[in-house]
Amino acid sequence: MCGIFGISSTKPISNQLIKGLSKLEYRGYDSAGISGHGINSKLITIKATGPIKNLKNKLSKLKGITTAVSHTRWATHGQPTLKNTHPHLSEYIGIVHNGIIENYIDLRSYLKRKGYVFKSDTDSEVICHLMNYYFNKTADMQSSIVSTANSLEGSYAIAAINTHTPHTLYTSCKGSPIILGKGLDANYISSDITPIIDHTKHFISMDDGEFAEINSASIKIFNKNKKVIKKPTKVSKIDKNQASLMGHRHFMHKEIYEQKTIIKDMTSRYVGTNKILPNIFGHNTDKLLENIEHIHFVGCGTSYHASLVAKDWIEQFSKITCTAEVASEYKYKKINVLPKTLFVSISQSGETADTISSLKKALKLRYTNTLAICNVAESTLTRLSSMNFLMNAGPEISVASTKAFTSQLFTLLLLTVILSRKYGKTEKKMVQDIRQIDKKIDELYKMEDEIKKISSKFKNKEHTLFLGKGTSYPIALEAALKLKEISYIHASAYHSGELKHGPLALVDKKMPVVCFLPDNHLARLVLSNLAEVEARQGQTFIFTNKKIARNKKQVEVIKMPDCPDLIVPILYIIPAQLLSYHVALKKNTDVDKPRNLAKSVTVE
Ligand code: F6R
Repeated sequence: MCGIFGISSTKPISNQLIKGLSKLEYRGYDSAGISGHGINSKLITIKATGPIKNLKNKLSKLKGITTAVSHTRWATHGQPTLKNTHPHLSEYIGIVHNGIIENYIDLRSYLKRKGYVFKSDTDSEVICHLMNYYFNKTADMQSSIVSTANSLEGSYAIAAINTHTPHTLYTSCKGSPIILGKGLDANYISSDITPIIDHTKHFISMDDGEFAEINSASIKIFNKNKKVIKKPTKVSKIDKNQASLMGHRHFMHKEIYEQKTIIKDMTSRYVGTNKILPNIFGHNTDKLLENIEHIHFVGCGTSYHASLVAKDWIEQFSKITCTAEVASEYKYKKINVLPKTLFVSISQSGETADTISSLKKALKLRYTNTLAICNVAESTLTRLSSMNFLMNAGPEISVASTKAFTSQLFTLLLLTVILSRKYGKTEKKMVQDIRQIDKKIDELYKMEDEIKKISSKFKNKEHTLFLGKGTSYPIALEAALKLKEISYIHASAYHSGELKHGPLALVDKKMPVVCFLPDNHLARLVLSNLAEVEARQGQTFIFTNKKIARNKKQVEVIKMPDCPDLIVPILYIIPAQLLSYHVALKKNTDVDKPRNLAKSVTVE
């Protein structure tokens, strides 16, 4: 979703701004703009709809500027047009904004009565007029920021520039992240670390209600009473090469291929020869987890699918009962929390608004503890949750999540083993199974050519069905989501046993039906569900390690490596990721940035 990048430097920055905006592209956007101090500190602003290259064409106007704010916009209020593109301007002030201002209609009427003229349909425009209104009253930008913050309801990360304070930028946030980068002869404001790591690894995270004033030489942070506060500078562990393509055509492909190394690293970090290493979820957590009797999982999209697998795993190996909810539902439900219940939020970004508000709700309920499983250190989710597990899978740039999903599953498998300890002596066997995952992934990568060929059979389809049973059902859901989001082919996932209760009506000889069929105790049942499809001449694509006759024209068997049932979900999703990737390539879609989607869904 929207992204913010601001720089105050001693040197010209226009190219750095464009590079920074390109780094924010992965979040999803439909227009972009920049506002910087020109001659006599007057604001020079450029905006363009569409890709960043359209903005680059206007860059000559910013020649020589050393201080500016910039933004990528993902439309929420108002269409993706030039007038709605940020920065928004008011007399002395230019602002860029992430988040949603919930009381913008009231503020708009108020400001109109004060004589302000609105040029856009956005909620964000009220911010610059409010800041300007308060600045006119006090001639003090700090007071103006505090008064503006006091008037705004909703979530925001704001970066502002003022014609009266040359070479200076301001920023404030509530419920939407801002981090400040500390460089040598420049300082930075950003909504995430990706544009900053090209310049510096040193950064400070802002907390809700704080604001900051930065120039090329200093960063000053204040609380809402305008008192200077000292905050620790952290060092990012992200390697800037992690955010580049490294020879792959798309980030999605690169990230699919990173899964083996990530799992291998996680195995060496957390898995001993016969046991999971002690307290991997934090100090003394093994003892805490030992007493848990119920778990409530919450996540969105892919992260929610991971929680469905975890629910199955944990209930299979322990007596713990689990619920798994999509965060946008959890927030509005009455939740009964029994004693000894753990709340687990799962999120790649740690910035998903629905997941964050679910955690905020959970913190007010009587949970024994909260655990966040996340890929981004210093994200809002990890800052709020009392226990954290960082997957360290490296930045996931492709909007379609791949490596985050398998890292989430791996983490949840470790959690399953720990929680199952007191219910049996299975840890040694489970650990032996887990230790095989990374080697098995190598075998999956060898299937890419075969999958590429199969992908041509999906290219011209409009609808597909995905089937699974047990832990393969969430894999069917996830595989269907991958196909939908990057190839724009409609895909529905069902428990294979549900087919005859309705979706079978869709099956005819044109309908591709993808099925995940590991050779386990459920395979016999899934095979009879598939027979129902074949009897209606549906085209089946079966990912399986079971021996199945290949004699029917409409049956395509994709041979999977033999593996223990425990690790099936982690392995079976990888060829499905490759399948949707190759279908998308054939359909010539924008694989890494599918239409209408954003990487970090920071609005509810
Ligand atoms: C799909 C996808 C989304 C995210 C969802 C939650 O490929 O990436 O469904 O999984 O938006 O995002 P996080 O995990 O960042 O909370």
